[in-house]
Amino acid sequence: MTAIVSGSASQALSAALASELDCPLAAVEYDRFPDGELLAAVPGFDADRAVVVASTTSHAAHLELLLLQDALHEAGAEEVVTVLPYMGYARQDRAFESGQPISSRAVARAISTGADRVLTVSPHEEGVCEFFEPTAEVVDAAPVLADPLPDDLADPVFLAPDEGAVGIAETVRDTYGSGEIDHFDKHRLSGDSVEITPSDADVAGRDVVVADDIIATGSTMSEAVEVLHDREVARVFATCVHPLLAGNAYTKLAASGVEAIYGTDTIEGPATAASVAPVLAEHLSAD
Ligand code: R5P
Repeated sequence: MTAIVSGSASQALSAALASELDCPLAAVEYDRFPDGELLAAVPGFDADRAVVVASTTSHAAHLELLLLQDALHEAGAEEVVTVLPYMGYARQDRAFESGQPISSRAVARAISTGADRVLTVSPHEEGVCEFFEPTAEVVDAAPVLADPLPDDLADPVFLAPDEGAVGIAETVRDTYGSGEIDHFDKHRLSGDSVEITPSDADVAGRDVVVADDIIATGSTMSEAVEVLHDREVARVFATCVHPLLAGNAYTKLAASGVEAIYGTDTIEGPATAASVAPVLAEHLSAD
């Protein structure tokens, strides 16, 4: 029997996945030691196979995942599958300056020690999967980004804010059914500021869906939205797999005049509008 074990940042997704796979959700209990250290336990766990679903959106979530994996092995699980809907530190995939760590490799190694198998959803660079042992499997969530879009988009353009996101824009367009593909070019000036070079596509009076893998500080998306409004678009929808929305990203985007901000439940929050549970269930059922 398989049971789904939820990390605290992935509860709605875990419940949806349990429903898709028709398997139980295991009980997870938390406690704190007097010194503040966490205890994450799976009392009464008795399945052979555990699927732990945990977005590692914070240091606490990383640690909680390691504790849950260990608790499951202690409880006798024969196989512990770890699903990282959102993998924290995945964008630090190289040492950018001498003396820096390859942070994604460090966390992948730690997570691998407690996992027989790892799945991760739409990572920014698939190369990070090789830091896991065995190599992590990629589940592409881009098709579900079409789910929340209105079905009356006017002569739509599916736009990637940079060339790297064109594949996502194409998948969303293909799933939606029709529309033009275009992309801007982006130059990152700092961690929270970017410069966008628009294309010469005629977007006036048309609805535009800007699709990306992640909205972090919101700088990329809000710059793209402002450029589009300068070109007199009709409506702009911002969509991404991982709505991280750090700091003031949500309000920054709302202020830029976006019609709606859509993301998936890899990060549960104010922009969650689509679930990756069906694509995860399909991947897990294909074994
Ligand atoms: C970068 O290449 C990614 O695809 C995203 O465009 C980027 O990480 C978004 O970050 P932010 O929201 O901080 O601009």
